[in-house]
Amino acid sequence: MNRYFRAEIRSNRPVHINHNLLSLANIDPMVEPQPGQFYMLEVSKGLDPLLKRAFSLFRRTQEGFQILYRIKGKGTSILKDLKKGTVLHVLGPLGNFYPLPSDSESPLVIAGGIGIASVFSLVEKLSKKAFVFYGARAEQELFMTDALESFHRELVLCTDDGSCGVKGTVVDVLTDFIKKRDEFHQPVIYACGPKAMLREIAKTALANGVKAYVSLEEHMACGIGACLGCVVKTTSGHQRVCKEGPVFDAREIVW
Ligand SMILES: Cc1cc2nc3c(=O)[nH]c(=O)nc-3n(C[C@H](O)[C@H](O)[C@H](O)COP(=O)(O)OP(=O)(O)OC[C@H]3O[C@@H](n4cnc5c(N)ncnc54)[C@H](O)[C@@H]3O)c2cc1C
Ligand code: FES
Repeated sequence: MNRYFRAEIRSNRPVHINHNLLSLANIDPMVEPQPGQFYMLEVSKGLDPLLKRAFSLFRRTQEGFQILYRIKGKGTSILKDLKKGTVLHVLGPLGNFYPLPSDSESPLVIAGGIGIASVFSLVEKLSKKAFVFYGARAEQELFMTDALESFHRELVLCTDDGSCGVKGTVVDVLTDFIKKRDEFHQPVIYACGPKAMLREIAKTALANGVKAYVSLEEHMACGIGACLGCVVKTTSGHQRVCKEGPVFDAREIVW
């Protein structure tokens, strides 16, 4: 099926300072998305900005899908002002997705900041099986926690300043958790967040012999493997985040 389709904005509401939840209804048929995949959204009809912007599938809904986004620069500032009824041109779902755990594996899902946008639908799909670790700088930067309530097995919140949950990073908490691995059978990690966080998670996973999948972000122009703008160095050469990723086995990345 064609991966280009039109979708109409049903709502585009702030969930937090600088973060919006965009709900879209597809007008044309769309390919069924999987957790970890992403879309390229056209945020403007004109030439400025010319390029589509990449956003993870946040949630599949009955009428279409949702995107959770941080208002960062030009494209997302335009996006935040788009009203209900606006029709967007969308390309997706793109890239690979999180491989699901086997019955003997315990999924540990880790989100740093806006990384929650990529892993939320995985937590939902794993329905009550996932141990979720969600970290941010401060309490006001942790959001969608109410929505997570119905899906996780356990939720550990962490903040750098200690204003909510554990004071410290998700990496600090994760290390203690995987050391008690009997409780979790075989842990398998799924993580999305800042690259520095992912690098630390990869190190921890490797040191403890735990499998880890990380979702990477790179600047993307085409989203379909044509421009080579999003390559990362891996143990088997350069790979495109938009095509071979965004989800990689953490051991394959040359950090
Ligand atoms: C696979 C993937 C999934 C993503 N999912 C989400 C998500 O669910 N929610 C969310 O808030 N953000 C997500 N991002 C980041 C999002 O694409 C950028 O924040 C957005 O493109 C910024 O656009 P801008 O015009 O507002 O910012 P500007 O800084 O003005 O953008 C300038 C250029 O840089 C690119 N760019 C800037 N920051 C990033 C970034 N972090 N990653 C990739 N390209 C960037 C833009 O696409 C644009 O081409 C994702 C990125 C990728 C690659
Ligand atoms: S964005 Fe063009 S190759 Fe990945």
